[in-house]
Amino acid sequence: MNASDQSAAAITPHALLQLHMAMAAPRVLTAALQLNLFDHLRAGPASAAAVAAAAGTSLRGTRMLLDALVALGLLGRQGPAYSLVEGARTYLVRDSADYVGALMETDALWTAWGSLTEAVRSGRPVVAVERQERAEAFFPILIRSLHVANRAPAARLAAALGAGRTHHGLQVVDVGAGSAVWSIAVAEADATARVTAQDFPGVLRETAGFAARHGLAGRFAYLPGDLNTVEFGRERFDLAILGNIVHSEGEASSRRLFRRLAAALRPGGRIAILDFFPGDDRSGPLPALLFALNMLLNTENGDTFTLAQYRDWLTEAGFGDMTTVDIGEQAGIPAPAVIATRL
Ligand SMILES: C[S@@+](CC[C@H](N)C(=O)[O-])C[C@H]1O[C@@H](n2cnc3c(N)ncnc32)[C@H](O)[C@@H]1O
Repeated sequence: MNASDQSAAAITPHALLQLHMAMAAPRVLTAALQLNLFDHLRAGPASAAAVAAAAGTSLRGTRMLLDALVALGLLGRQGPAYSLVEGARTYLVRDSADYVGALMETDALWTAWGSLTEAVRSGRPVVAVERQERAEAFFPILIRSLHVANRAPAARLAAALGAGRTHHGLQVVDVGAGSAVWSIAVAEADATARVTAQDFPGVLRETAGFAARHGLAGRFAYLPGDLNTVEFGRERFDLAILGNIVHSEGEASSRRLFRRLAAALRPGGRIAILDFFPGDDRSGPLPALLFALNMLLNTENGDTFTLAQYRDWLTEAGFGDMTTVDIGEQAGIPAPAVIATRL
């Protein structure tokens, strides 16, 4: 039996029907957030009728949605009373500091993925999120979720970089900083680090809020503009961070960016890249391949790239000693950090 026979043997009608219905569970979460169901349970356990009255929804539909949320482990139930489980209280109640539903409560992904067939036909995105106007509307929502999800990996990255241990007073440029989750972790680990956060001006207003909430306002400076054209300067920085940028920029722009960042780093300075990496034969892991399609749907040139491609492009730009560091999952997807040194 060859490899394709083996995978054909694994396909069953049941498995296909299950795959087809896999879209239902995430839609349950989106609907629950859009109807504020978690918020309505914040005061304590409540019946389906009480939740429906508070949400202004039908009893029939609300009961079904609440039951599905219980089965998904997102709510608890004792008899007729539905209740918040601890994780839902922390991450799904809207006024929680760690709310991650900001993106999930929108139809952004649903709308985009609903157009996948057309996007594959045309090779063109449904929306181009890297364009300034769209970016300034979309990314303030996305980065709120990413900030909560990536705080722990960011602390691991800062440790791997030796911030505050082997390296002190790091001058950091965080390109497409968003919430600055990665550079905030470096600044927290290295009390004398200073960060220049780069992004579109409408997003940098949010970045400043995150820096202030972490007590770092005095150590952050801002470089507003398009990362493709903004002036990074020469030999100014010890560390350049590219968090989830390469996949939306695509190959040509990223290779140019690597060269410009090599010039902006001092010799011996480092670049840290956070992204999703398919294996060299692009046969997995699935999340990295699905993310490539997400980039087809949402960007002009985005894609996911293999570590071999990163090694070639970093070498071409003047970096060496590329290593990968396990920092755990990023936004729920296993993804190492890539670190390389400016020669
Ligand atoms: C996916 S978010 C990543 C944010 C952050 N680096 C992280 O990893 O959490 C992408 C960020 O890059 C910014 N961005 C995308 N294209 C850009 C461009 N052409 N110029 C400047 N910033 C851009 C977006 O505004 C957004 O804040």
